[in-house]
Parts: sequence; structure tokens; C-alpha cells
Amino acid sequence: MHITVVPASPRTAQATIRFLLAHPSGPTVRGVYRDLARVPAEFAANPKFAAVTGDIIDASSLDFAGSDAVLNVQPPIYAEIDTVKHALDVSNNIKAAVQRATSVKRLVFVSSMGAQYDHGTGEILTSHAAETVLADAAPEVVFVRCAYFMHNWEAALKTISEAGFFFTTLTPLDNTLPQVAKDDIGETCAEELLATGNPLKSNPYIFDLVGPRPYTSLDVQRAWEEATGKTLEMRPVGKDGLAEFYGHVFPPVVAKRYTEMNLSFLPGGIIYEQSQPTGEVRKGRVELVDEFRKLLQGA
Ligand SMILES: NC(=O)c1ccc[n+]([C@@H]2O[C@H](COP(=O)([O-])OP(=O)(O)OC[C@H]3O[C@@H](n4cnc5c(N)ncnc54)[C@H](OP(=O)(O)O)[C@@H]3O)[C@@H](O)[C@H]2O)c1
Repeated sequence: MHITVVPASPRTAQATIRFLLAHPSGPTVRGVYRDLARVPAEFAANPKFAAVTGDIIDASSLDFAGSDAVLNVQPPIYAEIDTVKHALDVSNNIKAAVQRATSVKRLVFVSSMGAQYDHGTGEILTSHAAETVLADAAPEVVFVRCAYFMHNWEAALKTISEAGFFFTTLTPLDNTLPQVAKDDIGETCAEELLATGNPLKSNPYIFDLVGPRPYTSLDVQRAWEEATGKTLEMRPVGKDGLAEFYGHVFPPVVAKRYTEMNLSFLPGGIIYEQSQPTGEVRKGRVELVDEFRKLLQGA
């Protein structure tokens, strides 16, 4: 089996490659990089791995010839551009490249919880846009709608190490949110890629991927305290403070998208209320505290 991962740098893509290269069936993997200097040494040294140059924003640079399956991830955009249009353009590039390479039987896309909604989800509208384009891109299509990434909490590392506190935008503090680790995403995507050619329950086949249990901000605080061995202060940012909070971190248009996304998974938001649940929900194994231990080690 030959699998292309495009692009190969995002953390979810890297986790998938790691599982593929360790798999006993011995698939060969092609990673697509904007800059070949970014290929991790652990992959470069593996004879089953090949790195090639390509950019998802340039359709002519993408060559999936000879691949049985393709994993696509859409990297986050922090620039003041129309990210939904960008997602449509990039997805059309992926779709065209899949269809040029007549060997590709299956496309797996790292999507997001809430991708079924066409409004009210801010940044997640990019995953919705991608799903609309990619739904018929290959004979078999799989959308892995991932919960909130546990590695998003990496942003807390700086304030924790410098001042012993972290911000949380997940309120009220006992409100739960499904969260998932990159290794669970990587393992799940690898399994779906390796299952190419096996019948799908539906096409596109769509499921939600969550962690072993949902977590509250209080759970997040406990996990950071356990991982660091320190008592830490948690500084909540309530609904009314979100626009200002993201305004300090991002340019205005980006801050607006992140505010809307954050509101969507708080009580009253469209994802919290879940009027159109995906249906199937799969659970990963990695607990929050174990992901935080990895983040502390820079992994
Ligand atoms: N955050 C969440 O909670 C969440 C939840 C569900 C789904 N998702 C989806 O999952 C996606 C992936 O997240 P992630 O954490 O794996 O990503 P990530 O690690 O943040 O990906 C960033 C990397 O993508 C690469 N990149 C950026 N622009 C690129 C381009 N035009 N072409 C090729 N590579 C490019 C860059 O690597 P180089 O500089 O090495 O090229 C960059 O370091 C998100 O964007 C979102 O669509 C996110």
C-alpha cells in the first residue's frame, strides 16, 4: 500500500505518518512539504518514507501518482484572508490532484466537530467548506470530525512556566468539551487509510473522534497541575471577554472567527446544542494529562 500525506508538517499529519511507518503491513509513505528542510529526521531516515516538494495552494505542484490513499489536513490560517474561500480553493486543488492520479482509491480528511454546520462556527466553517468539495473527490471518502485538539492547550505553556497561571476560554468552568489527542487522531487516520478498498458504511463515511471522556476547565487545571507538579492559577475568560481576549492574540478578522468558533461550543452555541449530531462517535485512548506531559517534553 502506498499513501500520500498532504501536507505532511501539521501535527496530526505527523502523528499519522508515525503510525503508518510503524505498522506491520509496511506501507510506503510520501510526505508533501512546502520546504524539504522541514522533514523530521525520524522520517527522513526511514526507507519506507519519501519526502517531496509541493504546496496545497499550488495545484500543479501536487502529484499523488501511484498512491492508493491520500490523507489531507488543512493547516490553520492566521492571516486576514477569506479562509472559507481559501479552504474551497485548496480543497479543489486536492480534489484535482486526487482525480489526476487514477490510482487513488481513498481520501481521508482531518475534519472538525461541527463541520456539518454552514453558519455559526467561525473558523470551523473552513472544515465545512472542505467537506463540501471533497465529498466526491475519490471513490472512497472518509471525514474524521475531530474534537477540540488537546494540543491547543500548548498555548498555556508560556504563562505556566513564566508566571504559574493559564487562561481558559472554556466556561463555565464545569462545562465539558470533547477533546482528543493528536496520537489518537494519527492512529485513527492511519487505520482508515490502511482500510482502503474495504467497504465503507456510507460514502462519504463520517464520524466524530473524541478522547476517552470529555473534559472541563477544572479537569484541564488538574491535568496541568499533575503534569507540572505545581499548583497553578486558572484565569477564566467569559463569553463577554472573548472578543477582547482574541483581539490581543490575533489580527481583527482572525479574532472574530476565533470568537465565533469559541462561542459555538459554549452553552447556547450551535455545536454545544448539536441539532445535527454526526451519528457515530469514536473514542480515543489518550488522557489529557498524558498529552500535557508530552507537550512539556516538546512532543
Ligand atoms: N485545533 C483544533 O482543535 C481542531 C479541531 C478539529 C480539526 N482541526 C483541523 O485540523 C487542522 C490541522 O491541525 P494541526 O494541529 O495538525 O495543524 P498544525 O500542526 O497547526 O499545522 C501547522 C503546520 O502546517 C504547515 N502549513 C501551513 N501552511 C501550509 C501550506 N500552505 N501548505 C503546506 N503546509 C502548510 C506548516 O508547516 P511547515 O511550515 O513545515 O510547512 C505549519 O507548521 C486544523 O487546521 C483544522 O482544520 C483543528
